Amino acid sequence: HGLLAYDPGFRSTASTKSAITFVDGDKGMLLYRGYPIEELAERSDFVEVAYLLMNGELPTPAQRAEFDLLIGQHNLLHEQVLSFYRGFRRDAHPMAVMVGVVGALSAFYHDVMDIRNPEDRSRAAVRLIAKMPMLAAASYTYSMGRPVRYPNNRLDYASNFQQMMFGIPSEEYVPDPVVARALDIIFILHADHEQNASTSTVRLAASSGANPFACIAAGIASLWGPAHGGANEAVLKMLTDIGSVDNIPKAIARAKDKNDPFRLMGFGHRIYKNFDPRSRVIQGQARKVLAHLGKKDPLLEIAVRLEEIALQDEYFIERKLYPNVDFYSGILLRAMGFPMNMFTAVFALARTAGWVSHWLELQQESHGIDRPRQLYVGPTLRHYPAERAPR
Ligand code: CMC
Repeated sequence: HGLLAYDPGFRSTASTKSAITFVDGDKGMLLYRGYPIEELAERSDFVEVAYLLMNGELPTPAQRAEFDLLIGQHNLLHEQVLSFYRGFRRDAHPMAVMVGVVGALSAFYHDVMDIRNPEDRSRAAVRLIAKMPMLAAASYTYSMGRPVRYPNNRLDYASNFQQMMFGIPSEEYVPDPVVARALDIIFILHADHEQNASTSTVRLAASSGANPFACIAAGIASLWGPAHGGANEAVLKMLTDIGSVDNIPKAIARAKDKNDPFRLMGFGHRIYKNFDPRSRVIQGQARKVLAHLGKKDPLLEIAVRLEEIALQDEYFIERKLYPNVDFYSGILLRAMGFPMNMFTAVFALARTAGWVSHWLELQQESHGIDRPRQLYVGPTLRHYPAERAPR
């Protein structure tokens, strides 16, 4: 096969150069534009992080004010876009709706945009970040048979999303600052993670010069799977199935059994082989929010015990399997009132900041269309059977 290297799934091939996010899986280190995720989670907010990812530097106060203004100007959905929702079954999965509706946005912002123009590119990126809360919230309210709620520019990004998700029509929504802050931290932690499957999908789609809204729809499709962003939903399903601390050993035994497809969802990571720095922050937030709301979640107890037992088990130690970001995020989102099928949509909302940053970065490169190669293992040349009657 000549000079072709065989690297299934690009596990050891750098598909691009990137200056956005750095991950050191052995040290459990995650940096956005050089800044540690723990510091950003503690001191920054999601809108600032989105600006940082997109532009490479933290905004000055004036830049921040302008960015907020832009988000406020672009956070509405076109009324025609809202009519798309009515085409879906009410019980459609929100991720299915999001793939469709974000893809459909490309029809609204195509001829008006020249992706060779940096200003148009930047506007497309801002539009995506700005519209994602209403897009995600509408997929939920539609499923509940409730009217769509519009953004309120007096609220911050996370509170605004909550208001559109949970606000009761005709009543003013009063955000809970502890819950809003925890949600903002979830957004920060999920905002980017270098060349993961969905980001690589966005880049691959974008390498042909495709419309950015269509590229992000491709990223949402990739994120949906349970091995990627769908894991947060899968974790809660798993914890619910386990049901009680007594059943944990059975679940661990199943996870270790190679004849059983069952895996501990929220455990293991392709890159982190020591710990996932995001899971520590999320666990702390889950405890904080539950305490603040005065809620007790039996699933948290099962999760904590499951982690303890797994981390002492030879199987998990040998394979360096630790809780990842999704292990506790579902418990936190549930405490905030999010239904299970919205968890991955929340992830998609946050990851949009990363996707558009990679899309912007890619536009400045000139390596042309991506084109992975393959090792062909099918039949060699053969001829159409002479005895078959021609059609
Ligand atoms: N439970 C039980 N065994 C596991 C698990 C698990 N969660 N994860 C990996 N293993 C085993 C696997 O069977 C294999 O064992 P062996 O060497 O005996 O065949 C070994 O560990 C290495 O696994 P791998 O599948 O080669 O590892 P990977 O780096 O390809 O997979 C992963 C990473 C995240 C897909 C995988 O750990 C997994 O499926 N985890 C559960 C799903 C999950 O939580 N995904 C979210 C990832 S983080 C957020 C995101 O990316 O969106």
